[in-house]
Amino acid sequence: YKRVTTKSLIDMKAKGEKISMLTAYDYTMAKIVDTAGVDVILVGDSASNVMAGHETTLPITLDQMIYHASSVVRAAERALVVVDLPFGSYQSDSKEALRSAIRVMKESGGHAVKLEGGKEIKESIKKILQAGIPVMGHLGLTPQSIYKFGTYTVRAKEEAEAEKLIEDAQLLEKLGCFALVLEKIPAKLAQRVAESISIPVIGIGAGGGVDGQVLVLHDMVGMTHEFSPRFLRRYMNLFEDMTKAIGQYAADVKSKDFPNANEQY
Ligand code: KIV
Ligand code: NA
Repeated sequence: YKRVTTKSLIDMKAKGEKISMLTAYDYTMAKIVDTAGVDVILVGDSASNVMAGHETTLPITLDQMIYHASSVVRAAERALVVVDLPFGSYQSDSKEALRSAIRVMKESGGHAVKLEGGKEIKESIKKILQAGIPVMGHLGLTPQSIYKFGTYTVRAKEEAEAEKLIEDAQLLEKLGCFALVLEKIPAKLAQRVAESISIPVIGIGAGGGVDGQVLVLHDMVGMTHEFSPRFLRRYMNLFEDMTKAIGQYAADVKSKDFPNANEQY
């Protein structure tokens, strides 16, 4: 396989080829996602919810993100691996942001970092880019600021917020980000943003008028089952299937059906 690069993503947009992105947080899952041909693997801070069972993405630490990312990097032969900088690792000042990004690159071997926000974190993005580390932006619903908004509902429905989002997207392009994620905003606005910049826009709950799509792996294979937003397409129901299989195993042990004569030495 030829490795996907930040440059190949920009070329895909120019050619009108859509970009596929999925999250992964460990070696085994990342191996499957990479083998299936997904272009970008995101080591999302959604690991805080999916892997650790926290209610929000805020508690996950930089050390924990690096652990997840290094496992994913060992699995990915083709995909570009993007790693979320977690809450608290880049907001205080640009030097701290650069230190965090450098740790991710050195200690996990990831290929790029993702940060939530626009103008507010401009200096941090600049500094990281100056060090030669590719940055993916993230606008719209930004889960690290959940306590500022109070809900996970659709963002930028009001004109003022939509205008700020467009300005932020154009700023991220100007700074030199190689791509950006738009989360849970009206499809029309997302399309307008994608058409107004030349870097790829990857949407989640942002409609089909953008340059690519991202979902949380555990949601799209149905391993999680309590979370059902409209934008989520479930391709499997692994929660049900695995619960059944594991229940069967437990029953087989109890009934002494497992192991049988062929399943021992
Ligand atoms: O952490 C994550 O999974 C993300 C995606 C939803 C874009 O940031
Ligand atoms: Na994230």
